[in-house]
Amino acid sequence: METACKNPDSAAFSGRLIAWQKRHGRHGLPWQKSRDAYRVWLSEIMLQQTQVNTVIPYYERFLERFPTIQDLAEAPLEPVLELWSGLGYYARARNLHSCARKVLSGFCGVFPEKPDEIAALPGIGKSTAAAIAVFSRGVRAAILDGNVKRVLARCFGIEGFPGAVKVEREMWALAESLLPDKEIESYTQGLMDLGATVCTRTKPVCSVCPLKALCVACREGSQNKLPAARPKKKLPEREVDFLILSDGQRVLLERRPPLGIWGGLLGLPEGGVAEARNYAAQHGCRLLEMRALASLRHTFSHFRLDMHCLLCLVEIKGHPAAESGREWLDYNDIDSAALPAPVRRLLKIAQNTEVSPRR
Ligand code: ADE
Repeated sequence: METACKNPDSAAFSGRLIAWQKRHGRHGLPWQKSRDAYRVWLSEIMLQQTQVNTVIPYYERFLERFPTIQDLAEAPLEPVLELWSGLGYYARARNLHSCARKVLSGFCGVFPEKPDEIAALPGIGKSTAAAIAVFSRGVRAAILDGNVKRVLARCFGIEGFPGAVKVEREMWALAESLLPDKEIESYTQGLMDLGATVCTRTKPVCSVCPLKALCVACREGSQNKLPAARPKKKLPEREVDFLILSDGQRVLLERRPPLGIWGGLLGLPEGGVAEARNYAAQHGCRLLEMRALASLRHTFSHFRLDMHCLLCLVEIKGHPAAESGREWLDYNDIDSAALPAPVRRLLKIAQNTEVSPRR
């Protein structure tokens, strides 16, 4: 880590935070029981965009199935994606899997220690790398995730959108200058806990905050203005036509290519009426009825996708053979399949849509 000048507020900031974490912070979370880098790494990846309570059962199921990094590295990708099903942001699962293979091939199966080495692995940014190094080895390194940015923006009155390069650089320097010399684990956990439970995005509970005496936003009443929101920009819009071929019980899905959005997940075939006829013919089905569903919009970080969907009721003649890359999924298995969240929503709508009865 770069050496940073000690901030004059460092002792007050870190001292208060550490004392608060010990009394009021979160203890006894499953990943806090171990310093094993594999477990710490898995928890930090799962916690990246997902709340603690949601993560806990996923974390436990994952470790039951893949108790060591070697078990994970040796498994194919599909069961990893299935265990991730419902957590969303599947790129995390793909990166986790490829990262396990890299640690096995490049580091003899031992997770690297230095934040810079950890950050060079797939899917691990600078802040997550620091958190892993702190919790697995007690390395003195700074984290800066969304919650920490909010705490720092408010406490130190930092204006500007924290995702902007200049503001982010300023915040990294600040985060590094505040690091305590001792008790880095309690300090780091304290920052996370404060951001998640006290210095929340809306309705922060300043009355119980250990930093209130230092906090610029609390003094000035600017908690709702800090951190500054992302400047609004119009996202590009794209459209897609999906086909839902179903006999009322099962639905035809295809495995998406490994790269690109939803890579490696199951998805819906694309096309209109002509493609629906082709698919039905290819799969030995008789097309009975077609009905357009209401369109659905999904917003990704960099574009909006308007999804139009044609629900095609088919009669499956004979045994519904799965060919490679395509499979018939039972509607009852929607929740446990590795599906992108918007596709899951579309399938639920389709499941609850009556298509007119057969002629
Ligand atoms: N969010 C990110 N990492 C976390 C951790 N280790 N504990 C609780 N919340 C977190």
